Amino acid sequence: SRNIRLAVIPGDGIGPEVVAEGLKVLEAVAPASGLAFEQTTYDLGAARWHRTGEVLPDSVLDELRGQDAILLGAIGDPSVPSGTLERGLLLRTRFELDHYVNLRPVKLLPGAATPLANVAPEDIDMVVVREGTEGPYTGVGGVLRKGTEHEVATQESVNTAHGVERIIRYAFEQAAARPRRKLTLVHKDNVLTFAAGLYQRYLRQLAAEFPQVETDYCHVDAATMFFVNQPRRFDVIVTDNLFGDIITDLGAAVAGGIGLAASGNINPTGAAPSMFEPVHGSAPDIAGQGKADPTATILSVVMLLDHLGAAETARRVEQAVADDLLERPGLGARSTSQIGDAIAKRVSG
Ligand code: IPM
Ligand code: MN
Repeated sequence: SRNIRLAVIPGDGIGPEVVAEGLKVLEAVAPASGLAFEQTTYDLGAARWHRTGEVLPDSVLDELRGQDAILLGAIGDPSVPSGTLERGLLLRTRFELDHYVNLRPVKLLPGAATPLANVAPEDIDMVVVREGTEGPYTGVGGVLRKGTEHEVATQESVNTAHGVERIIRYAFEQAAARPRRKLTLVHKDNVLTFAAGLYQRYLRQLAAEFPQVETDYCHVDAATMFFVNQPRRFDVIVTDNLFGDIITDLGAAVAGGIGLAASGNINPTGAAPSMFEPVHGSAPDIAGQGKADPTATILSVVMLLDHLGAAETARRVEQAVADDLLERPGLGARSTSQIGDAIAKRVSG
């Protein structure tokens, strides 16, 4: 079997609880997957910051570079100034490891409780390809005359030809591999003309290389409406970092809740390890109580398996999650570890 060095970052809040269940399921399928996981757990997050003042030491980042993949729980805690860990740990890792694809499936599994009326699973089956290293997330900008009534805060959106070309190309490849072969650019080209102009140009340019893919454009504000009243419009979506952040929370909500939403921060070149994490945050209000749903992390493990080429094993875990969802007792009836146990049992049995 192939040896995989897996870095595990449980992080803050409910992170350690959900990661434990993701690993439980991974360990249950590993023998049959052809992969042998060699885990290293990294103590990063609020506790380390309080203890040492460190967010992500360069030496740790270098160790992460040498791993084959990363599984992350959640980062962020109200006891740490907002942005310290988010920017210094999560975003820094995405940027330094060049995770330019933030891949976020929005798929309604049968058995998942959507708040939308009259939708069937086939109505909500999309993949959001969120740009992961640019846009308003780069930290370009600043504050003038801070604290005065003349304060000016700017937060620039950075979009490069290189960055836009590669994310749109990746999205076309995703769309070409799916039955509907439809790619929608979501942006705000009636206002953010510079950034959207670049996206539009590469969409048009690359469309010539992928004639089998139908392309479409949708303003981000309209897209939020269509997620709710016409989700069938979408197959693959490509969008910038911030719009992708926002619409994937909405996507999670319509596809059964944030407890089910998985993501992959992917470096498709393989030059650095990719990182898989649930879309949800650290949920400090329910941390330590066994109330968190580990399904999003388990589905992130599915994405990890797919990324490592273990597609058959990935399908088995996905099926186990789908079967579990169909038989779920009411919300909160099972603890975090009971859900993990049930899914692990299905994949082992
Ligand atoms: C996410 C989160 C992060 C983001 C935060 C915690 C920095 O909301 O992964 O969606 O905005 O990307
Ligand atoms: Mn988010």
